[in-house]
Amino acid sequence: MTTRPRILTGDTPTGPLHLGHYVGSVRRRVELQDTYDCYFIVANMHAYTTRADKPAEIRTHALEIVRDYLAMGIDPARSTIFLQTEVPAIAELTYFFAMLLPFNRVMRNPTLKDEIQVKGLGETYCFGFPLYAVGQTADILAFRAHAVPVGEDQIPHIELTREVARRFNQMYCGVSDQADDDDHESLGGVFAVPRADVGAVGRLVGTDGVNKMSKSLNNAIFITDTPKQVKKKLGKLYTGRQSPTEPGDTSNALFDYVRTFIPDADRVRELETAYATGADIGDGHIKVEVAEAISALLAPMQERRARYEGDDDAILDILRDGCRRANECAEETLALAKKAAHLHFFDRSLSYR
Ligand code: TRP
Repeated sequence: MTTRPRILTGDTPTGPLHLGHYVGSVRRRVELQDTYDCYFIVANMHAYTTRADKPAEIRTHALEIVRDYLAMGIDPARSTIFLQTEVPAIAELTYFFAMLLPFNRVMRNPTLKDEIQVKGLGETYCFGFPLYAVGQTADILAFRAHAVPVGEDQIPHIELTREVARRFNQMYCGVSDQADDDDHESLGGVFAVPRADVGAVGRLVGTDGVNKMSKSLNNAIFITDTPKQVKKKLGKLYTGRQSPTEPGDTSNALFDYVRTFIPDADRVRELETAYATGADIGDGHIKVEVAEAISALLAPMQERRARYEGDDDAILDILRDGCRRANECAEETLALAKKAAHLHFFDRSLSYR
């Protein structure tokens, strides 16, 4: 392990990743690989909170997500990609941290409430569903992470994580309740109080032009989409403009795409001006240009992804190595936490075959 600050983030394997994941979060992770020790968790146990009856699907999605990470430029030589279920310290810390949080505090989490609504879970959700929020604090704190790059919807989970870190450090490490969040580690706390690092594009609109890009809404462009598929999906993007000589509003979804995907800033301004003044440039032309920019972005990803297509062994090798490194860090954290909480009796070590 190095002395660089650490980040931890990841995804629940619910299906293939799309452009929304890329611009909202994975692109940022790729950048951070050089300055942080990066841990990326495939939160496969969390997928069981709502799909425990579909274990084979969750396993497939977990491996697919790793392919998507690699395609998007996460480099397993520099970053640690691992499975939540192969790091036992996470499960142990989850149980422990559950003791540090009032039950009602967990249930007040607005992201949980939202999910119950959106996914129509009603009153029938399992005990593990709200527990996943506690589990997420353990995902993060097992690595004593300093920052957590996430989308806006995850902020309540990071808030909960910060509370656990503070409470643990105060209860077991003698850190004063007056201490500044940034000083917890230097004052002897086991855990840093991690901050949420919210990306620039928190939300990419889908090809329906209205909702957030999401697989379940059928408005997503996937990393594996061919140029033809990209062009077709963009063709459907609704702008409301009637003719190319009608001044258009560049705050629409089409121009969100222009600004997000056309790399040349001068060209972006040129298009914005032409559109706003009705200078005879059709939506169709702009869509084609955006589609080409997106396909140019996807081409190297697809090339990288092709190397791992159908080769589960290669993915498992990357994960085995990632899990080994993840356990090195998480086991050290667990030992420190157990010592602080008078739960340490023996040393132990883990290994994989
Ligand atoms: N809850 C996150 C999501 O659904 C996934 C996740 C699990 C995560 N553990 C995490 C994100 C820890 C950041 C840090 O997208």
